[in-house]
Amino acid sequence: MIKHWANLRTSGTIMPSSRFLVNRLLAGIDFADARVIVELGVGTGCVTREILRRMRADARLVSLEINPAFLDVARRIGDPRLTLRNACAGDLLRVLGEEGVDDVDAVVSSLPLRIMDQALVDRVLDASRACLHPDGRFHQYQYSLSHYAKLAERYAEVDIGFTVRNAPPAFVYTCTGATRAAPGEVRLRPSVAAVYAGALAAATMVIRAVHDI
Ligand SMILES: C[S@@+](CC[C@H](N)C(=O)[O-])C[C@H]1O[C@@H](n2cnc3c(N)ncnc32)[C@H](O)[C@@H]1O
Repeated sequence: MIKHWANLRTSGTIMPSSRFLVNRLLAGIDFADARVIVELGVGTGCVTREILRRMRADARLVSLEINPAFLDVARRIGDPRLTLRNACAGDLLRVLGEEGVDDVDAVVSSLPLRIMDQALVDRVLDASRACLHPDGRFHQYQYSLSHYAKLAERYAEVDIGFTVRNAPPAFVYTCTGATRAAPGEVRLRPSVAAVYAGALAAATMVIRAVHDI
């Protein structure tokens, strides 16, 4: 199993996410209502399994993973609600088209944004926003806040959580207020307001970290 994590250039970590991180990542999803969830970056499937455990019986999970070795592990999950695709997250809209999905309630991403090619990150973030229902949410964890600005450019609200109970400790973004803009649309650079919001979010994060809330 450990050998699958050896490709640090695409996995971005050496350990699967802890249950504390997974709980925080999924906390903002209304599983009673969600019909279609997309997952980006399956790894060994710890997030996948928890989504399926919480998901409605008639809901669908479409999960994209670039590393076939991880998919061999994830295929053992064997849940009929799960569609596993060996695909790059940058091809999300094409994959969803092939799967007949045009409206997504939540996108849950474990992608290592900081070490990825940044043009690809932009493509993934634009595609995620484009496929989301207007009330849908984008969920992402990161070991730094390096991509806060990219998310604040695309969503009206970016909530930042944090947990120390993961190796390494991680931030969790929950993004709401997606518009159905075309993927690749030119966006404004982060405004002073966005930077100010980032500072406030960081202060909130420190308070949450101290109290682990
Ligand atoms: C940090 S691991 C997360 C695995 C698991 N979800 C977890 O939380 O433990 C990131 C995963 O994203 C996958 N990945 C990296 N780049 C990708 C891309 N462009 N498209 C799809 N998956 C990608 C990696 O192969 C790896 O499995």
